[in-house]
Amino acid sequence: MNKNNIKLKSITKKNFWDIVLLNQGEDGKKYVADNSYTLLEAMFDNKLKYVKGIYIGKTPIGLIYYNPLSKKKMFINRYMIDEKYQGKGFGKKAFELSLKYYTKKYSPKVLQISSKNKIALDLYKKFGFVDKQDKESKDFYKKYKEKLLVLDL
Ligand SMILES: CC(C)(COP(=O)(O)OP(=O)(O)OC[C@H]1O[C@@H](n2cnc3c(N)ncnc32)[C@H](O)[C@@H]1OP(=O)(O)O)[C@@H](O)C(=O)NCCC(=O)NCCS
Repeated sequence: MNKNNIKLKSITKKNFWDIVLLNQGEDGKKYVADNSYTLLEAMFDNKLKYVKGIYIGKTPIGLIYYNPLSKKKMFINRYMIDEKYQGKGFGKKAFELSLKYYTKKYSPKVLQISSKNKIALDLYKKFGFVDKQDKESKDFYKKYKEKLLVLDL
């Protein structure tokens, strides 16, 4: 499977089972909700407008969900790669692609993301995200026990 064939696809009636059936793995369950929950949330939030399936060619491998908090700010609510495809460089490539796609399409000035997963946090930092060091991030940590990262564009 070739990293260069990674695509983001809309999630519709035709392909939603592709995405629901992906599995973040036992370890991944500590960090990310099942995709069925994410799709339900994204359906109520904004009718699935900002959630995408990640595919290599026709093979579904993951999900990413950027949620606009305002005109300027998007929060990356959910990101997962199916356990079968983890650790092969697909997550890094798909994250890079998502940054290009969402920033071009929606022109946010700020992106935020949070995680407890050290592998994920390190990955986001490779794209310029930094620890948010303010009251919001302290409150966020108290509430969710997750580090909040920010990228100013
Ligand atoms: C986090 C996640 C999206 C990363 O995707 P991935 O396809 O596994 O990541 P990649 O193979 O592209 O690797 C990205 C980097 O992490 C490192 N990495 C990946 N798996 C690793 C592991 N098990 N141990 C140590 N480092 C690891 C890679 O070496 C790579 O580093 P590099 O940039 O120096 O090459 C994926 O593992 C996942 O979905 N995990 C479960 C859910 C989760 O935690 N989501 C994030 C919630 S915010």
